[in-house]
Amino acid sequence: MSDKELRVSKIKDGTVIDHISGGYALDVVKILGITGKEKKVLTIAINVPSKRFGVKDIVKIEGKALNSQEVNRIALVAPHASINIIHNYAVVEKLEVKLPKTIEGIVKCVNPCCISNSDEPVVSKFYIKTEEPLLLKCHYCGVTLEQADVLGQL
Ligand code: CTP
Ligand code: ZN
Repeated sequence: MSDKELRVSKIKDGTVIDHISGGYALDVVKILGITGKEKKVLTIAINVPSKRFGVKDIVKIEGKALNSQEVNRIALVAPHASINIIHNYAVVEKLEVKLPKTIEGIVKCVNPCCISNSDEPVVSKFYIKTEEPLLLKCHYCGVTLEQADVLGQL
Protein backbone atom coordinates (compact mmCIF):
# COMPACT_ATOMS: atom_id res chain seq x y z
CA MET A 1 0.00 0.00 0.00
CA SER A 2 1.57 3.31 -1.04
CA ASP A 3 1.42 6.49 1.02
CA LYS A 4 -1.23 7.76 -1.41
CA GLU A 5 -3.70 5.15 -0.16
CA LEU A 6 -5.70 5.23 3.03
CA ARG A 7 -7.17 1.91 4.05
CA VAL A 8 -10.34 1.84 6.13
CA SER A 9 -9.50 0.69 9.67
CA LYS A 10 -10.12 -2.83 10.88
CA ILE A 11 -12.73 -3.11 13.61
CA LYS A 12 -12.41 -4.82 16.98
CA ASP A 13 -15.88 -6.28 17.47
CA GLY A 14 -18.89 -6.15 15.21
CA THR A 15 -19.92 -6.90 11.65
CA VAL A 16 -18.33 -6.18 8.28
CA ILE A 17 -20.63 -6.39 5.28
CA ASP A 18 -18.29 -6.80 2.33
CA HIS A 19 -18.69 -7.25 -1.45
CA ILE A 20 -21.79 -5.08 -1.66
CA SER A 21 -22.36 -4.04 -5.30
CA GLY A 22 -20.93 -0.58 -5.92
CA GLY A 23 -23.42 2.11 -4.93
CA TYR A 24 -25.68 0.00 -2.69
CA ALA A 25 -24.08 0.57 0.73
CA LEU A 26 -26.59 3.22 1.77
CA ASP A 27 -29.45 0.89 0.86
CA VAL A 28 -27.92 -1.82 3.04
CA VAL A 29 -27.64 0.62 5.93
CA LYS A 30 -31.26 1.70 5.46
CA ILE A 31 -32.70 -1.80 5.23
CA LEU A 32 -30.99 -2.58 8.54
CA GLY A 33 -32.69 0.44 10.08
CA ILE A 34 -29.37 2.05 10.94
CA THR A 35 -29.60 5.83 11.10
CA GLY A 36 -26.14 6.77 12.35
CA LYS A 37 -27.60 8.03 15.62
CA GLU A 38 -26.93 4.75 17.47
CA LYS A 39 -23.65 5.92 19.05
CA LYS A 40 -21.86 3.07 17.30
CA VAL A 41 -18.94 3.55 14.97
CA LEU A 42 -20.20 3.05 11.43
CA THR A 43 -17.85 3.03 8.45
CA ILE A 44 -19.22 3.14 4.93
CA ALA A 45 -16.99 2.84 1.86
CA ILE A 46 -18.59 3.33 -1.55
CA ASN A 47 -17.16 2.41 -4.96
CA VAL A 48 -13.79 1.24 -3.71
CA PRO A 49 -11.68 -0.88 -6.10
CA SER A 50 -12.22 -4.63 -5.80
CA LYS A 51 -10.28 -7.40 -7.53
CA ARG A 52 -13.34 -9.59 -7.80
CA PHE A 53 -16.04 -7.08 -8.73
CA GLY A 54 -14.29 -4.02 -10.18
CA VAL A 55 -15.81 -1.81 -7.52
CA LYS A 56 -17.58 -2.66 -4.29
CA ASP A 57 -19.04 -1.09 -1.18
CA ILE A 58 -18.27 -2.05 2.42
CA VAL A 59 -20.21 -1.34 5.61
CA LYS A 60 -18.57 -1.86 9.01
CA ILE A 61 -20.67 -1.71 12.14
CA GLU A 62 -18.82 -1.77 15.44
CA GLY A 63 -20.46 -3.42 18.42
CA LYS A 64 -23.33 -5.00 16.49
CA ALA A 65 -23.94 -8.64 15.61
CA LEU A 66 -26.59 -9.15 12.93
CA ASN A 67 -29.32 -11.70 13.50
CA SER A 68 -30.38 -14.05 10.70
CA GLN A 69 -33.39 -11.88 9.81
CA GLU A 70 -31.13 -8.88 9.31
CA VAL A 71 -28.76 -10.96 7.20
CA ASN A 72 -31.66 -12.08 5.02
CA ARG A 73 -32.86 -8.52 4.58
CA ILE A 74 -29.50 -7.56 3.13
CA ALA A 75 -30.06 -10.06 0.31
CA LEU A 76 -32.90 -7.88 -1.02
CA VAL A 77 -30.49 -5.06 -1.86
CA ALA A 78 -27.07 -6.78 -1.99
CA PRO A 79 -27.38 -10.43 -3.07
CA HIS A 80 -23.58 -10.93 -3.30
CA ALA A 81 -22.65 -9.46 0.04
CA SER A 82 -20.62 -11.46 2.52
CA ILE A 83 -21.05 -10.96 6.22
CA ASN A 84 -18.01 -11.18 8.47
CA ILE A 85 -18.48 -11.43 12.22
CA ILE A 86 -15.49 -9.89 14.01
CA HIS A 87 -14.39 -10.70 17.56
CA ASN A 88 -11.25 -9.17 18.97
CA TYR A 89 -10.07 -8.14 15.47
CA ALA A 90 -10.40 -11.66 14.03
CA VAL A 91 -13.00 -12.85 11.51
CA VAL A 92 -14.72 -15.58 13.51
CA GLU A 93 -17.56 -16.30 11.10
CA LYS A 94 -18.38 -15.65 7.43
CA LEU A 95 -21.99 -15.81 6.29
CA GLU A 96 -23.36 -15.57 2.75
CA VAL A 97 -26.58 -13.64 2.44
CA LYS A 98 -29.47 -15.73 1.20
CA LEU A 99 -32.97 -14.74 0.24
CA PRO A 100 -35.62 -16.51 2.30
CA LYS A 101 -38.46 -18.24 0.39
CA THR A 102 -40.94 -15.61 1.52
CA ILE A 103 -40.47 -11.98 2.51
CA GLU A 104 -42.90 -11.00 5.25
CA GLY A 105 -43.56 -7.56 6.66
CA ILE A 106 -40.47 -5.83 5.27
CA VAL A 107 -41.77 -4.59 1.91
CA LYS A 108 -45.15 -3.04 1.11
CA CYS A 109 -47.21 -4.15 -1.88
CA VAL A 110 -47.36 -1.51 -4.63
CA ASN A 111 -51.02 -2.27 -5.36
CA PRO A 112 -53.10 0.22 -3.32
CA CYS A 113 -56.09 -2.17 -3.47
CA CYS A 114 -54.10 -5.11 -2.06
CA ILE A 115 -55.56 -6.48 1.17
CA SER A 116 -52.14 -6.01 2.78
CA ASN A 117 -52.65 -2.24 2.28
CA SER A 118 -56.19 -2.22 3.70
CA ASP A 119 -57.33 -1.67 7.28
CA GLU A 120 -57.32 -5.45 7.75
CA PRO A 121 -54.50 -6.70 9.97
CA VAL A 122 -52.75 -8.49 7.11
CA VAL A 123 -48.95 -8.52 7.01
CA SER A 124 -47.43 -8.22 3.53
CA LYS A 125 -45.99 -11.41 2.08
CA PHE A 126 -44.05 -12.00 -1.13
CA TYR A 127 -42.54 -14.94 -2.96
CA ILE A 128 -39.26 -14.71 -4.84
CA LYS A 129 -39.99 -14.98 -8.59
CA THR A 130 -36.38 -14.41 -9.64
CA GLU A 131 -33.33 -13.44 -7.62
CA GLU A 132 -31.50 -11.54 -10.36
CA PRO A 133 -33.05 -9.28 -11.35
CA LEU A 134 -35.02 -9.33 -8.12
CA LEU A 135 -38.73 -9.90 -8.73
CA LEU A 136 -41.18 -10.48 -5.89
CA LYS A 137 -44.75 -11.69 -6.26
CA CYS A 138 -47.40 -10.63 -3.77
CA HIS A 139 -49.03 -13.57 -2.00
CA TYR A 140 -52.34 -11.71 -1.80
CA CYS A 141 -52.86 -9.90 -5.11
CA GLY A 142 -50.19 -11.42 -7.36
CA VAL A 143 -48.65 -8.09 -8.30
CA THR A 144 -44.93 -8.11 -9.14
CA LEU A 145 -42.41 -5.86 -7.39
CA GLU A 146 -38.98 -5.05 -8.79
CA GLN A 147 -35.85 -4.21 -6.83
CA ALA A 148 -36.42 -0.52 -7.61
CA ASP A 149 -39.80 -0.75 -5.83
CA VAL A 150 -38.07 -2.21 -2.78
CA LEU A 151 -35.30 0.43 -2.83
CA GLY A 152 -37.87 3.19 -3.23
CA GLN A 153 -39.51 2.15 0.04
CA LEU A 154 -36.36 2.31 2.17
N1 CTP B 1 -12.15 -6.74 8.59
C1 CTP B 1 -12.27 -5.66 9.45
N2 CTP B 1 -11.83 -5.73 10.74
C2 CTP B 1 -11.24 -6.86 11.18
C3 CTP B 1 -11.09 -7.97 10.33
C4 CTP B 1 -11.56 -7.89 9.02
O1 CTP B 1 -12.81 -4.62 9.07
N3 CTP B 1 -10.79 -6.88 12.44
C5 CTP B 1 -12.69 -6.65 7.21
C6 CTP B 1 -11.63 -6.75 6.13
O2 CTP B 1 -11.11 -5.47 5.84
C7 CTP B 1 -12.45 -7.29 4.96
C8 CTP B 1 -13.50 -8.16 5.65
O3 CTP B 1 -13.55 -7.73 7.00
O4 CTP B 1 -13.12 -6.23 4.28
C9 CTP B 1 -13.19 -9.63 5.57
O5 CTP B 1 -11.93 -9.86 6.15
P1 CTP B 1 -11.01 -11.05 5.63
O6 CTP B 1 -11.77 -12.32 5.66
O7 CTP B 1 -9.73 -10.99 6.40
O8 CTP B 1 -10.71 -10.56 4.15
P2 CTP B 1 -10.72 -11.43 2.81
O9 CTP B 1 -9.94 -12.67 2.98
O10 CTP B 1 -10.32 -10.47 1.72
O11 CTP B 1 -12.26 -11.78 2.68
P3 CTP B 1 -12.98 -12.49 1.45
O12 CTP B 1 -12.33 -13.81 1.25
O13 CTP B 1 -14.42 -12.62 1.94
O14 CTP B 1 -12.85 -11.55 0.29
ZN1 ZN C 1 -50.45 -7.22 -3.08
